[in-house]
Amino acid sequence: LDNGLARRPPMGWMSWGYYMCGVDCDNNPHKCLDEKLILSVADKFYTEGYQEAGFEYIIIDDCWSEKARDDNGRLVADKKRFPRGMKYIADYIHKLGLKFGMYTNIATKTCMGYPGSRGHFEVDAKMFAEWDVDYLKVDGCFVKEDYLNTAYIKLGAHLNATGRPMVYSCSWPYYIQFIHHKKPDYGAVSRHCNVWRSYHDVATSWPVVKAIIAHYATQYEHLYRFHGPGHWNDPDMLIFGTNSLTDSQSRVHIAVYAMLAAPLLLSCDMNSLNTYEKKLLLNLDLIAIAQDPLGVMAKPYVLQYSVTLWVKPHLPRKGDKYHSVSFALVNLSKDETTVSFIPGHYGLNSTDGYTVMDIFAQVFIKNISLSDSFQVSLSAEDSLIYTMFPL
Ligand code: DGJ
Repeated sequence: LDNGLARRPPMGWMSWGYYMCGVDCDNNPHKCLDEKLILSVADKFYTEGYQEAGFEYIIIDDCWSEKARDDNGRLVADKKRFPRGMKYIADYIHKLGLKFGMYTNIATKTCMGYPGSRGHFEVDAKMFAEWDVDYLKVDGCFVKEDYLNTAYIKLGAHLNATGRPMVYSCSWPYYIQFIHHKKPDYGAVSRHCNVWRSYHDVATSWPVVKAIIAHYATQYEHLYRFHGPGHWNDPDMLIFGTNSLTDSQSRVHIAVYAMLAAPLLLSCDMNSLNTYEKKLLLNLDLIAIAQDPLGVMAKPYVLQYSVTLWVKPHLPRKGDKYHSVSFALVNLSKDETTVSFIPGHYGLNSTDGYTVMDIFAQVFIKNISLSDSFQVSLSAEDSLIYTMFPL
């Protein structure tokens, strides 16, 4: 969507992945979706370096509202969990220089049964704008294919008419493909939405992360051409901070998301990120790959069984004739392995050669020429990333 927003893949935090429909705060305080939680995420972003690294949007997913609209037909935030309302939260977040996101569904109810926006597009768009929302996730439960194909466009027009810049995140193609078993019109989706879900929900488990990676590897040809500044495929949230991954699996998770130029949305108690996960999230060389202004989705090449080489060209730095290229090796198997490849065969073109940075170690390791072969040994379920900068 060409509305000037999301020129780089959005980064931030979204409640659903970990907190889900966290309404039972008395019995389950550790999964409570309330004002305190949202403000605590904002505070953590502000005080612990996440904001400087680029984490910006704080997005409240489903289950934020009362069970019914008010007498004027307006959505109301749950009075117990959000006693000061959403505008208060927006103001708090904005004062810290961060951005605020919310959620609705395109049908009469949300996926969890709260009031949805069908029949109320104009009123809701205006209300989200009044609440100073910067990002709106619009889910697609409970409606037919034809309706999805028209309603997302109409709601988008109402959002645009408010004049409030709101990143528009659509689950539209996910429902077309996986619920209605039809082919999404990604051309239309990318013209009308800034971000869209194209695969199933993530869950806090390694096999689910692997399935998402496999989907993007096999569907690359169908997805990459629609992916770029202002319009991004969204493989769903990162599961860091949920005690679900080993360090090496965390490297795989973040490596593939960075190489895809995917949105990087955390979903966890920010106090539960372990030291290594935090180090990965604040690795600015890694974030630079994810946020490269060219916004290209890396291309996957299968090197051997369960080992994929993802290749991502970057925008040339000012004054540079040649662009740098990142290479991520991803081993999804349970065996250690050694692979070699010739970087010069994957879009490098400076005959002066390249200097190679190991992105996880954040050190330059050597210089190479176009004909050099590059050999690495990869542990089980692990990833290595090298960015090659032209000399
Ligand atoms: C389905 C979506 O895919 C999830 O990300 C989340 O928004 C839930 N619905 C909320 O009900």
